[in-house]
This record gives sequence, structure tokens and C-alpha cells, in this order.
Amino acid sequence: MTESTSSLPTQPSSPQTDSEERTCDHNRKLFIETVGCQMNVLDSELVVADLRNRGYELTDNVREADTVLFNTCSVREHAEHKIYSRLGKLKYGKQRPNRVIGVIGCMAQKDQKTIFDRAPHVDIIVGTGQLSSIPDMIDEARESRERGVAVGLSRKGGSRETVSASFESYDPLREPQMRPSPCQAFVRIMIGCDKFCTYCVVPTTRGPEQSRSPKQIEQEVCVLAEQGVKEVTLLGQTVNSYKHTEDGQLFRLSDLLEKIHPIAGIERIKFVTNYPRDMGNDLLEVMRDLPKVAHYLHVPVQSGCDDVLAKMKRGYTVDEYRGMMGRISEILPDCSVSSDFIVGHPGETEASFEKSLDLIRECRFKNSFIFKYSPRPGTRGFELFPDDIPEAVKRERNNIMLGLQNGISEEDNAEFIGETVQVLVEGLSKASEKAIGKGPVEGPQQLVGRTRCDRITVFDGNPRLAGSIARVMVEDVTATTLIGSIVTEEIQHGSLNVLPILHS
Ligand code: SAH
Ligand code: SF4
Ligand code: F3S
Repeated sequence: MTESTSSLPTQPSSPQTDSEERTCDHNRKLFIETVGCQMNVLDSELVVADLRNRGYELTDNVREADTVLFNTCSVREHAEHKIYSRLGKLKYGKQRPNRVIGVIGCMAQKDQKTIFDRAPHVDIIVGTGQLSSIPDMIDEARESRERGVAVGLSRKGGSRETVSASFESYDPLREPQMRPSPCQAFVRIMIGCDKFCTYCVVPTTRGPEQSRSPKQIEQEVCVLAEQGVKEVTLLGQTVNSYKHTEDGQLFRLSDLLEKIHPIAGIERIKFVTNYPRDMGNDLLEVMRDLPKVAHYLHVPVQSGCDDVLAKMKRGYTVDEYRGMMGRISEILPDCSVSSDFIVGHPGETEASFEKSLDLIRECRFKNSFIFKYSPRPGTRGFELFPDDIPEAVKRERNNIMLGLQNGISEEDNAEFIGETVQVLVEGLSKASEKAIGKGPVEGPQQLVGRTRCDRITVFDGNPRLAGSIARVMVEDVTATTLIGSIVTEEIQHGSLNVLPILHS
């Protein structure tokens, strides 16, 4: 999954019909900032939905908020620094006696009470498995002015069942107004991770791997479809390791896709993030056979060097990854693949780095997310390997790799020039939103969407097209974007011919 930062958009409060749901006697103002991966974005959506049901209103102005939540990430040190610096600013800002400050999510689970040492003005700390307690904990903290902590057990804090039970999958009813785009939604299909890559905090911050029931997932997708969602993205740290037995039947991700594919209204189904070793042909074949499933796979390789992969305990060799890529292009020739790389992992020599570059040249990923190694206390890697690559070298490798990947992305995107692609329209592009922010805009506006193989595409059109599939002729490209115009139909020799779709 990929990292981002967002504070959720402020929404007008929806009318409350059920007065019993309002446990607040006056409107509270909530500010929430979210860092980290899609799992955190979804968690924030659900936390906000819960609080809005209790009468909270969102604000994007932290100074006017009486409830301030930070949904945090620990995957790299930088993400934690950012939150501590935000917390620091609140400490020295104007004090509000009634304000409750909460640190929730992965950093809360990882650092627990030690957050109070660095930020004594924090009131509540809530881990990833206790998010449903947030509304009550806020009320208690406001009333008693006492601190509250709710976190899951550590991975060695009990039997697997006990530790798993302390990480609750948090999936209450969905709140359509809280989504950045009304036609797209995330759906959690599993929580936790059992892979224990040596550099990674996620198995600690998200707990043991647990797959959700296919029936529950199907119900949730039906609710989303009724709310107007056209594209669902199924989420899991290793989403293709999904496994759940229900009514005596074992469901893998391929079975789950078959189960939700018929749901009316859903036009496209994606899933992130895949783990290379668990990429079965059953999944690739179902992707080939089910038209709504995107032909896109995010399968992080992390390094192109076997020695580094072994240190990371990724559980595969470069050749095995190659074999998986071969199966993908055999079964799904038009499928795009993206990856993650860590540069500057302990022991990464110039030669190992060159092997990663070679792998990028060979696999021609659609794009790669590149991260500088960040030593994480509590991980095996932190104990075993000194962080021996200087920051300047990490930075240089990062830039070189980014340059190579961008060149490849642009070359491969250029292959689409002159072709017609099917785009699920998401809404206004960032440029249009900016222009609208400056005043009224006339005529068609720039829209953004993605092709079936997940390429971002911009073109002019009516914003009403959001949620529909448009056919776009590609005229120009950058490393990240296809640029084109909408094609409806074409008159050839006096008859109407629909243009052939050459690329999905
Ligand atoms: N299961 C997800 C992991 C989410 S973390 C996945 O495999 O994609 C997302 C990415 O962050 C990882 O793929 C890895 O490339 C990077 N990452 C994780 N721990 C890191 C660390 N300690 N330093 C630098 N990058 C890290
Ligand atoms: Fe972290 Fe590895 Fe699990 Fe991904 S698979 S969350 S990188 S431990
Ligand atoms: Fe995601 Fe960061 Fe947690 S990447 S799972 S929010 S540590």
C-alpha cells in the first residue's frame, strides 16, 4: 500500500433523523489528519462516520476544533516526526480547556504510553484494533480530564487467538459523504500481517493476519453499490494471501472476486497490496475472466538482489519474482504491474543497487514507489543490521532509481498515443479543482480517471460524467499521465462505427 497525507475534506453535516444517535448535546468540531497508507484512509473514513453520527462536525481548521485526532503511520521515521511536530505546535498554541487530542492508529499501537512522554498534552491513545472505542474515550477524557489508552496486545503478549482478538477489524456502516470521491471506496478484506519482513513495523502495528468473512464483505460492497460507488478497492497488507473458511468452503481472493463480481452497479474492482509468493494462477485466471477486475497488480519486489532479499526475509528470490512476472504476462498480457523498492537497506552494495536497476529495466513496472531505508525500533532488522548506508547515498540511489523508472513509465505511456482507452471517470482533475477555487469556470473542465490497467488519464468533459466509463483517445503523455480527449462515436463511410478498444 502506498503512503499519503490528507486531512479529510470538510463536509456539510447530514440531517440527523434518529435523535437517539446524537449523544452530544451540542455540536462538537472535529479536526482529523491522516498519514500513511490506504488502510489508514479507510480507518479515518470510518472513525469520522462514527463521530458524525454522534453529532460531530468536521472542520479543516485545527484552531477551532475541540477534538483533534491524528491517524498515524510508523512505517518510516519521517511519518512519526511529522506527527510529533504537529503535536508540538498544538502544545504551544492557544490552550482550550475543553479540547481533546487523540493519537490513533499505527504509531499509537507501536509507541503506546511513551507518546505521553513526548507529548504530555495528548489525551487519548488508541491503537488500530480499538478504533470503535474512540467516541466513548473522547467523551470520558473530556469529562474526567484523565488520559485514556486502548491498544492491542503485543505479538508475543498471548496465544495467537488472544492477540488476534485484541485487534478488532473496524468496519461499521459506511458514510458516503466522507469519501474523497463518491464513486470510489476502499473495502477492507483482511487486517494484520504475518510475513514479518525484517524492516517492517506493520505486523506489530496491525497485529496478526485475519481475513474477514466473504458474506460480510459482499454485504458491504452491496451497501457501497447502493450508495453510488462504481469502483471498489479491496485492501489487505498482503491481499492475495486472503483466506477464509465459511459454511465449509475455503475462500481465496479469486473466490471472493467471483462472489462480488456480479454485484450490480460496481463497474471496477481493484485490490492492493499483493505479496509475490502468494500470486497464484487461480487469481490471474479469474482476473482474465472477470471483466470488471482491473488488469493491474501492485506487487512490491523491494530489491533486485538476492542477498538483500534474504536479509529482508521476503521469502523469494529475484528469479522467483521473475517467474511470477512471466506467469502474469502469459495469463494477462495487458496487465500493468507496479512495485515498491527500498534503497539503502543495510548491506546494499553498489552492485546490489545496480541489480535493482536492472530488474526495473527488465520488468518495466508501470511505476515504482521508492523508499529510503528507515531503521525501525522493534523490528528484527533494527536488531540485526546496523543502518550502514549514509543518508547521502540513500538519497542519490533514490534519485537515480526514480529517474530510471520515470523514463520507463514515460516510454511505456507513449505507446498509448493514438489509442483509445476505457477510463472510469473519477471527477475533476486537481488542476480543475484549483481553477474552481479561484472563481467560476465556464465550459468543459478537465476530468481525471483511470484506465483498466490503472493509468491516470486526463481529458476535457462534463463533470456529470463522474462514475461512468468514458472512451478516451490518447494524444499525449507524461511519465504519470495519459492526456487525451473523449471519443463517443465516429462516422465512417456513412455508418456509425464504434472505435475498437485497443488497450484496456
Ligand atoms: N504490505 C505492504 C506494506 C506496506 S508498507 C506492502 O507490502 O506493500 C509499504 C512499503 O513501505 C513497503 O512495500 C516498503 O517498500 C516500504 N517500507 C516498509 N518498511 C520500511 C522501512 N523500514 N524503511 C523504508 N521503507 C519501508
Ligand atoms: Fe510489512 Fe512485509 Fe507485511 Fe508488507 S508483507 S506489511 S512489507 S511485513
Ligand atoms: Fe499503513 Fe503506515 Fe500503518 S503504511 S499499516 S499506516 S504503519
